[in-house]
Amino acid sequence: MTRARSSSSPPALHARLLAWFDRFGRKDLPWQTNPTPYRVWVSEIMLQQTQVATVIPYYLRFIERFPDVDALACATLDEVLHLWTGLGYYARARNLHRAARIVCEHYHSELPRDINLLMQLPGIGRSTAGALLALAHGERHAILDGNVKRVLARFHAIEGWPGAPLMEKKLWALAETHLPATRLRDYTQAFMDLGATLCTRTQPACSRCPLTGDCAAHAAGRVMNFPAPQPRAAKPVRKITFVLLRNRAGAVRLMQRPPAGIWGRLWSFPECTHRTERKIQRWCESELGFIVAQVERHDPLRHTFSHFHLDILPVVAEVTGRRPAVMETCPAVWYNITQPDARGLAAPVKRLLLELAKHPARKIHDANGELRKTGPRGRSPQAPAVSGRARQTDF
Ligand code: ADE
Repeated sequence: MTRARSSSSPPALHARLLAWFDRFGRKDLPWQTNPTPYRVWVSEIMLQQTQVATVIPYYLRFIERFPDVDALACATLDEVLHLWTGLGYYARARNLHRAARIVCEHYHSELPRDINLLMQLPGIGRSTAGALLALAHGERHAILDGNVKRVLARFHAIEGWPGAPLMEKKLWALAETHLPATRLRDYTQAFMDLGATLCTRTQPACSRCPLTGDCAAHAAGRVMNFPAPQPRAAKPVRKITFVLLRNRAGAVRLMQRPPAGIWGRLWSFPECTHRTERKIQRWCESELGFIVAQVERHDPLRHTFSHFHLDILPVVAEVTGRRPAVMETCPAVWYNITQPDARGLAAPVKRLLLELAKHPARKIHDANGELRKTGPRGRSPQAPAVSGRARQTDF
C-alpha cells in the first residue's frame, strides 16, 4: 500500500532549502549586491572550480578594473590574464575575454537572455548559463555544478561517478524536477551554498543539514559513499627545466607561451628538458642565442594540473653575451622584477620571480668552483642588482 502525501509529509526539497537559506544562506557576497548579468557572469566563471573565499579578492579587483562588458572587451588579453594570475584555469579568462568581445559585437553589449544563445558563448556551459539566468534575472533554470551534483547524488543515493554521461543525464533530470515555481535566485544560491558549506565532500555536516530527514544516503548510513569517485589512473608526471635567464641589469627573460596548451598566452620562463649545467648552457646558446656564464640549480617544485603533475627544476643562468644569429620564435621581454609590469604569469612563474627578487645579487663561481656573491659589474654585494627599467636590447 502506498501512502498518500498528507499535510504531515515532509516538505519538498526546495521548501527546506529556502527555509534554510533564509536563516543561514550567504546574502552579501560581492556579486550578490547589484547582481547585474555581467557581474554575475564574471563571478560564476571565477567560481568554477574555485572557492568563494579565494575568488572574492580577484573578483573585486577585476570588477574595479573592468566594471562592464565594454571595458572587458576593450582590454588586452594580457591585462585580463594579469588580473587572473594566481586564480588558475586560465582558459576561463581567455574565454571570458573572447565572449565579452562577442557580446559587444553581436549583442549590443547585453548578455543574451536566451539560454541557448548564452551556451554558445565561450566558457558558458549549461550549468553556468542556468546559474546566470537564475541569479541575474530570477528565471527558472536548473544548475548542476560539482556541489549540486554531490547534494543530489547523496539525497537520492545515486550510484556512479557524476561525470559519466548517463549519470549526468539522471542528475540533470532530478535538478529540473526539484525546481521551485518562485524564488529561483535564492533557491539557486541556496543549493550552491549547501553543497559548499554543509554537504561537503569530506566532512558533511548532516546534523545541521536541512535535507537530512529525507536524504537517502544518510538513511542508509552511506553518505561518504556518494558520489562515487572518478575511476582514474595515477596522474602522469612531466619534468621540465625552467631557465631563469638573468641579464647584467638583473632583469629576467620571459617568453609568451603559445595560445594552445597549458598556460596559453601567459608569460613564462624559457623551458627545456635538459637537467645538467653543461647541456642547459649549450641549449641557451643554440636555442635562445644567449651565452650564459653559469647555471645554478634550485629546489624543484611541483605544479599539479587536472590531468598531470608538472615537476619543475628551476635553474638561474647569468647571461654574459648574445649570439645575434638566433631568432626567438615567440614574443619575449626582459622583465624587471623590481618594477613588474602588468602581464599574466603562471602561478609558479610568479612564485619564482618573487623568490628571485629577494636574491638580486649575482652569484659567480670563484676559481675553486665555489659560489661567491657579487654585485653586478663590481658593485658591492649589498648593492641592488637592478635599477631603472630593463630594456629589450640589453644583449
Ligand atoms: N559556486 C558557483 N557559483 C557560486 C555562487 N554564486 N555562490 C557560491 N558558490 C558558487
